[in-house]
Amino acid sequence: MSQYQAVKGTKDVFPDEAVQWQLVEGVVRRLAGLYAFGEVRTPVFEYTELFQRGIGATTDIVGKEMFSFLPDPQGRSLTLRPEMTAGVMRAALQRNLLSQAPLHKLFYISDLFRKERPQAGRQRQFTQFGAELLGASSPAAVAEVLSFMMGVFDALGLTGLRLRINTLGDLEDRARYRDALRAYFLPFADELDESSKERLEKNPLRILDSKNPALKELIAAAPRLFDFVKAEGVAEFEEVLSLLRDRGVSYEVDHLLVRGLDYYCHTAFEVTSSELGAQDAIGGGGRYDGLARELGGGKDMPAVGFAVGMERLLIAMEKQGLLEGLKPVGPKVFVVVQQLELSGHAMQVAFQLRRAGISTELDLAGRSMKAQMREANRLGAAYALFIGQTEFESGQYGLKNLVSSEQSTFTLDSITEILREPLLCG
Ligand code: HAM
Repeated sequence: MSQYQAVKGTKDVFPDEAVQWQLVEGVVRRLAGLYAFGEVRTPVFEYTELFQRGIGATTDIVGKEMFSFLPDPQGRSLTLRPEMTAGVMRAALQRNLLSQAPLHKLFYISDLFRKERPQAGRQRQFTQFGAELLGASSPAAVAEVLSFMMGVFDALGLTGLRLRINTLGDLEDRARYRDALRAYFLPFADELDESSKERLEKNPLRILDSKNPALKELIAAAPRLFDFVKAEGVAEFEEVLSLLRDRGVSYEVDHLLVRGLDYYCHTAFEVTSSELGAQDAIGGGGRYDGLARELGGGKDMPAVGFAVGMERLLIAMEKQGLLEGLKPVGPKVFVVVQQLELSGHAMQVAFQLRRAGISTELDLAGRSMKAQMREANRLGAAYALFIGQTEFESGQYGLKNLVSSEQSTFTLDSITEILREPLLCG
């Protein structure tokens, strides 16, 4: 064993597990195609100010969870991206995307970094798939991203999910609400825990997010943001809900739902899974029309998006038996050589098969025939192709079906044809 271990809160993934990731990624890419979202890739690190401005200086993420560093003593601080939305918006503004077309539908599967205490479903490096729809945040646009997200869960067969949805109103609604909330909690300041006390000053909305059971009643009786949302905002929210009902998406309106990032306005949502423990949020998102202005874009840009944590999604799928029996696909054929001198020829044979699109493995370690056969079986190869001196000279090779054990002799061209034939290849 090496003296080095993976950093706490990070994970290595080998082929046995990678197939699970590929399954989810494949479904995400397929649905993205169906919903006409194009892939976006942005740098893993950005200037720290982008997140301070974008996510909000008083959020937990910016306050204590970012991996920031100075590239050199004179340099500007950089941060490993803790989420994708700010970076995607930065890229869109930098490229002036909206001047090229009024609407952009982008999706990503990306690695992110947050300095949180690692536990089941909470890592320091984790992966999200998500989507950002830029240029519209109409009820139809909100329903579109929600349908994409819920569509991925459906396609994977995942059940036991709860979609909670709320409206946070606009900036003005929230400012009035923030004042009302502060005034409500202030007389109870002594009863608040440390983090809620801190939030009371900086961002009282986040107290509503507290998981502390001692505060449950106090929070339940607090003024509701919904009551501060203007009639126009309420009507839009009702329309989102109506579109979700039309599309058969089940939801629960939860007026206590506030998200941990500051850029949201109007509709915000979160999905939890009954299969997960304390970290039960599997995904979340909402509208963020003000982010573009916050990042210096000069004006608001209607936008809505979501992100889903892939590790949590895989934990929930595993618990529901949705990953059972998944294993890496073995090579179609394993080229077995009788003696080492034939390995050059084996490589030529493998090359021809691979060029014909047939997945082929061969011995690269000079092992005995028996060991090569063991390896072919371990990998789950469908066929073994034997090369001995006679085969080499005659150009006729033994081909064994490793499932039925049937064996015959063929030329390499015939073998190429046989293995290309889907019925025989299984
Ligand atoms: P978020 O709620 O911070 O939203 O993260 C979305 C999901 O990422 C969470 O529900 C969770 O499944 C997963 N996640 C977050 N932190 C961790 C962690 N430390 N370890 C494992 N999984 C984690 C956002 O990031 C927003 N950018 C979503 C969005 C996109 N809003 C609009 N567009």
